Amino acid sequence: MARRPLVAGNWKMNGLTASVGELERIIAGARSLAQSATKVDVVVCPPATLIAGFAKAASGTAVTIGGQDCHPLASGAHTGDVAAEMLRDAGARAVIVGHSERRRDHGETDALIRAKALAARRAGLMAIVCIGETRDERDGGQTRHVVAGQLDGSLPETDPDAAANIVVAYEPVWAIGSGLTPMPGDIGEVHDFIRARLCVRFGETGHDVRILYGGSVKPANAKALLAVENVDGALVGGASLDAAEFLAIAGIYR
Ligand code: 13P
Repeated sequence: MARRPLVAGNWKMNGLTASVGELERIIAGARSLAQSATKVDVVVCPPATLIAGFAKAASGTAVTIGGQDCHPLASGAHTGDVAAEMLRDAGARAVIVGHSERRRDHGETDALIRAKALAARRAGLMAIVCIGETRDERDGGQTRHVVAGQLDGSLPETDPDAAANIVVAYEPVWAIGSGLTPMPGDIGEVHDFIRARLCVRFGETGHDVRILYGGSVKPANAKALLAVENVDGALVGGASLDAAEFLAIAGIYR
């Protein structure tokens, strides 16, 4: 099965109701992309406050809306948290889990992230599971070790069926928001490593799991980054806030 490319925008803690205009520009661009030969899945993950409105605006279009986090449980006494079922009810079809900013700001562990990925599956959401090493870990030659540990600890289980709604996003922490990226060859090495590990875990199904690259993806570098083997798309932060920039990145697949 050929893996269909996926370009997802992570808006992080940015955006107000007025930002729906930006989404509408993304929707218009994605409509024309959808008519090109190579199909690319386009996902926008706004903050939780905007999910319902954005999902309404994107309904029936080529753009899917996702959340940025979810709680492992479906409901309960967890003030301020949002369940995967609530995201789904609001119109989301995907959710990012384990982003390094949540690992850092909220002390999220691999075990918690696995529980969140399982919650996403339970609710019928695609889980975009984020992993990636810090600068110190890369400099210390620990990249493979860190990525392997996060993969093994954060992905749901060995059941190949579980792989169907999982996307892995490799985001080196030091590349996020810094304007720095690894060399394409270094990205390829990590993505090949992740692919091999997914195949050990899920068997043949491991070939179907999309592996996104994230960290300072911009229109200027997207072509080189997305051409790397086993890079099946991008998780875009800053550049996804601007429809023209985000569409230029997704448009690489045109
Ligand atoms: P930037 O594209 O702003 O570096 O952010 C990447 C990211 O963290 C996406 O989840």
